Order: sequence, then C-alpha cells, then structure tokens
Amino acid sequence: MTPPRRDGAHEAAETAGREAPALSAAEEERLVSAALASADERVIEGALRPKRLAEVIGQGRVREQLSLLLEGALRRGRAPDHVLLSGPPGLGKTTFAMIIATELGAQLRITSGPAIERAGDLAAILSTLGEGDVVFIDEIHRLARPAEEMLYLAMEDFRVDVVVGKGPGATAIPLDIAPFTLVGATTRAGLLPAPLRDRFGFTAHLDFYEAAELDVIVRRSADLLGVALRGDGAEEIARRSRGTPRIANRLLRRVRDYAEVRADGTVTRALARAALELYEVDEEGLDRLDRAVLGALVTRFGGGPVGLSTLAVAVGEEAETVEVVAEPFLVRGGLMARTPRGRVATPAAWAHFGLTPPEPPGLAVPGGLFE
Ligand SMILES: Nc1ncnc2c1ncn2[C@@H]1O[C@H](COP(=O)(O)OP(=O)(O)O)[C@@H](O)[C@H]1O
Ligand SMILES: [Mg+2]
Repeated sequence: MTPPRRDGAHEAAETAGREAPALSAAEEERLVSAALASADERVIEGALRPKRLAEVIGQGRVREQLSLLLEGALRRGRAPDHVLLSGPPGLGKTTFAMIIATELGAQLRITSGPAIERAGDLAAILSTLGEGDVVFIDEIHRLARPAEEMLYLAMEDFRVDVVVGKGPGATAIPLDIAPFTLVGATTRAGLLPAPLRDRFGFTAHLDFYEAAELDVIVRRSADLLGVALRGDGAEEIARRSRGTPRIANRLLRRVRDYAEVRADGTVTRALARAALELYEVDEEGLDRLDRAVLGALVTRFGGGPVGLSTLAVAVGEEAETVEVVAEPFLVRGGLMARTPRGRVATPAAWAHFGLTPPEPPGLAVPGGLFE
C-alpha cells in the first residue's frame, strides 16, 4: 500500500485514487465516463477542486448539513462524527473529504479499500494518528473483511486489537488510538455491511447536478484554466455533462482543444456543439456506454426486464461498470428503471432512439400479435 502522508494532502489523494482498480482500462479511456480519472487528469482535477465548503457549487443540502456538523464539532473542540459519502463517480466525494479536513484544520490521511490488503495495513495507519486527524478511505466497500472488523472497534471505541504471535499462542493486545474522524466514500453504499454503515454518524448521498449548477462549475473551471468561454458555450457544455462535474471539466478541456485548433480559441455554442459531436456526446449528455446499454435494452431485449449481468455481457462490459457508471444516470434521467425482475426501458428510452415501445402485454388484443 501507499504509505500514508501527512503533507500535500491534495496531491496524495490524486495518487491514492490510482490504487482503486474499480473499472476496466477501456473505461478509463472513455471520454465521457465519470469513472476514475487518469493520472494526468488527476493533476488537473486537483487544481479545479473547490478547497472550502463555501466554494462548493451545488449539493446545497449536503453542504449545509456538513457545515453544521463541522461547526458544531469545532465549537465543542471534539472530532465530529464519522462521515459516509456515497454516490456515482465524479460528483465530489473526494472533494468533500478533503474539504472536511481543511475546514477542521485537521491532518488528512488518505487511503482506499483496495489499498488496505491486511488488517495490519489499517492498524499501521490508525495507530499513528494524531488527535482529531481525518482518515479518508475511498472505495470503502472494497475493504477486506479483517480490516473492516478492525475498523468497527476503531470507529466506536478508538481502539484496535493488535494480534501478536500466531496460532494458539496468539494474543490480541488492545491499543488505544487518538480520536479521529473517518470519512468513507463509496459508489455502492448498498454493498456496505450494516454494522459498518451504522457506525457512521452522518451519511450523505451525492446526487447528479442540475444543468444550472454545472454551468457555474464550467465557468469557474474556465476561469481557472484561462479558457475563453462564452455564456452560450458554457450552457451547451453544462447541458451535456451528464450531471457530473468531472465530465463537465473534461468536456471543457476537449472543447478548448477544438476551439484552439479549429477556431480562434473562443468557446461558443456552435463550437461546443461541433466539438461534442466529434466526441460522441449526445444532446442529453449520454455517452457511448449509456447509449450501448440503453440500445441493448431496447433492441436486443425488447425493453426488458433483463438482468444486470446479461445486459453487461451484451455491451461487453463488467457488470459493476454498467451498474455504477451508466445506470444511475439512465435511471435518474427516466430512461431506465430497476425492477425486482430486472432492468426495463421506459417509453422515454424508446423515444430516445426514435422508436415506439411495444404495446404492454395487458393491453394486447387477445389472439393478436402478442399472444
Ligand atoms: N461541487 C463541486 N463544485 C465544483 N467542482 C466540483 C464539485 N464536485 C466535484 N467537482 C469537480 O469534479 C472533479 C471530480 O470530483 P471528485 O471529488 O474527485 O469526485 P468523486 O470522488 O465523487 O469521484 C473534481 O476535481 C472537481 O474539480
Ligand atoms: Mg474520488
């Protein structure tokens, strides 16, 4: 695992993300995937990340709740409750984790579920904490079982049991650790075991952003990157950003390339449209994976219901990628529904492809085509 660092928290986080092999290599390549950023992108993301709560755009409710939590803790001079952040990739989980440490004036220690292979790795981090430190565990649903169990005790009693020796002679030596705040992030809150979930005093779910919020985010990023962005250009990028700040920033950079190479560098609506067409981002912001998933659902499975794994095989992707990256946006956009029997396309999905949904079976004429 990466040795935890006490300095350069932001930079360290950019590195920590690299350890989470959540998604396929192809996934990393895809322009409009909200998946983990590539190494280069991580550096730029670091520069574009809001550093304080007041700088955060959107997520108003989470921001306000967090601000109360942090303010309260600061007044009492105690570490706040542990915080769980969940939501699809690219919506700001890592950003909020860093902001929490900054607002508390606390040291930030960053690691991730996959980086902690043994309970000892976690013990090494926890036993060297200073009072009030913030520990960020990204992809916390991927934590190995023994580490997870060690975390229960640490979160609740600020104690770890260090096992010394092997076999029947092994003894667990309890070790007190400094009161700390755990910030966990996950794209799959449903996978967290209840005992772990219950130990978080504060849980926030990040949802997709409104176009108006993305508009502000794109303008802010353009300022920071020195991109000449016109209002109508910002609007166009925001609208096609799939509700995701990471994608908004990514599209902005691609559109800037296009503007510099094919035009005078100014991003207008017409230019943004031309560039985004080239990069296969459609009007609704659906990317290739979204369209592949939806297209398979509609054309190959007659609108469903179809199981997640079958659908994933049909588009040649990991089930987790389809579930974590594509589905939340399709569901939220009213294009797909998750039912107990499987995934189904909504009428809007058919319309997206210019098709008419088949008659629901209940309405079919007896003895007719659908019998
Ligand atoms: N609320 C926000 N306001 C402005 N920019 C944001 C916001 N949330 C995220 N971003 C931008 O999106 C990028 C991805 O956010 P990040 O926190 O890494 O997402 P996650 O950890 O959920 O995948 C960040 O680098 C930041 O520039
Ligand atoms: Mg992250």
